[in-house]
Amino acid sequence: MFQILDNMRERTGKIKAAAFALVLAASVTGVSAQSGSQVRSSIPDSIFVVFQASCMPCHGAEGGRFPRARLNFARWKEYGASKEAEKSMLICSAIRKGSMPPKSARESRPEIIPTSGQIDMVCKWAQSLRPVKVRKPAVKEKM
Ligand code: HEC
Repeated sequence: MFQILDNMRERTGKIKAAAFALVLAASVTGVSAQSGSQVRSSIPDSIFVVFQASCMPCHGAEGGRFPRARLNFARWKEYGASKEAEKSMLICSAIRKGSMPPKSARESRPEIIPTSGQIDMVCKWAQSLRPVKVRKPAVKEKM
């Protein structure tokens, strides 16, 4: 009888340990995702160079008023996580569709058109910014 109880205790102990490990893992990923979103200037270099060459002539500090009002990489740091996610998805869809850079710029400077590899890379990055907002509360609820 006591032995059975002991066995049970041992088992629940193991289950608890496993559950704790899961929660710990979840909170660790939660924390890293969170700090990722807090680093606002966090456009990875490999992606920033694409924007620099293809977009920032218009959407950067030296760009025109109109495009800068819509998207300004020089002020990306001030956007904050949710706006970053929103803008990055707009960026992904614009370059996928080929609506950006605009037709006139594509014709006069075809070298600024992002390659399909660059487009994939940008869209993957955009995707990575998205779930942060959704995942964070889920982690909080568990804890
Ligand atoms: C030759 C100038 C020029 C270049 C280069 C350019 N854009 Fe634009 N972009 C504009 C203008 C002008 C607008 C605003 C007009 C409009 O919305 O149709 C705009 C609007 C946008 C918008 C819409 C923003 C919103 O909030 O709806 C996105 C996204 C965008 N551009 C992304 C890009 C990306 C990504 C690149 C680089 C791959 C790029 N653009 C390159 C001129 C440019």
